[in-house]
Amino acid sequence: MTTLQDKVPKGLSHKEVEVYRHLDPAKLPRHIAIIMDGNGRWARRRHMPRVAGHRAGVASVRSTVETAARIHIPALTLYAFSEENWKRRPATEVSFLMSLLGRYLKAEVPTLNENNIRLEYIGRQHELPAEVQERMSWAREATARNTGMVLTLALNYSARSELVDAFRAMVTAAAQNGGIEHLQIDEKAVSRHLYTRHLPDPDLVVRTSGEMRLSNFLLWQLAYAEIYVTPTLWPDFRGVHLLEGIAEYQKRERRYGGLNHNDAHKPAEIIKA
Ligand code: FPP
Repeated sequence: MTTLQDKVPKGLSHKEVEVYRHLDPAKLPRHIAIIMDGNGRWARRRHMPRVAGHRAGVASVRSTVETAARIHIPALTLYAFSEENWKRRPATEVSFLMSLLGRYLKAEVPTLNENNIRLEYIGRQHELPAEVQERMSWAREATARNTGMVLTLALNYSARSELVDAFRAMVTAAAQNGGIEHLQIDEKAVSRHLYTRHLPDPDLVVRTSGEMRLSNFLLWQLAYAEIYVTPTLWPDFRGVHLLEGIAEYQKRERRYGGLNHNDAHKPAEIIKA
């Protein structure tokens, strides 16, 4: 016999269970993308160096990833470092972020495996330091056989660069397959050449720290995503906040450019009036 208790996934905290009980498990987003923002402000408020905010942000990554996996979200994508971060931040901060990433990957692989999570990356990986690339390949390989949630880290990522790379890849593929006159570009072809070809488009994008921007993140893929902005700074964000975002998402009506459910049943002239 299944009881209500059985329907609550194992491992959630009491607070998480409270929010989870109000969710419809049949309508969970298939893919959630998160813009992790506010590490610097979190540190500044505590009179600490910016890097302390990044360090604290790792615990938020851990909690969010585990909760998403426990409630069986199929895909989670985290915007860790943008291409612009490299150019516009001091070298010391960039190198701190690199070493933090290396340590995160090393420490987290066992937990990813316990939670059946497969790790992937998007972004221009070849521009990252060689030792970071090696650690990334190792972690991807170590989790490659997992069949649960796909955790994708956006590293040295830019949506515009992704589109440029996709167009270049399409031209190269056509040139190698019978010549450029065979080049056919439509939406499916573009999607197939994006870094995210292993993923469905996100249903929900979360941004922390209250900023109302997409900041060059998944611009093609977020075309119909619901946007949830929370004032919580990333280092304060936990799994329970993700569940709150999902609750908000489930209240929204998704229309994909169509009509709402009630209007769809009205005659056309009433709708036009
Ligand atoms: C934005 O905050 C955050 C980043 C640029 C880095 C994100 C990195 C982490 C959360 C930790 C490491 C991640 C992994 C996957 C190991 P900000 O510095 O722009 O904050 P601010 O806008 O308040 O200055």
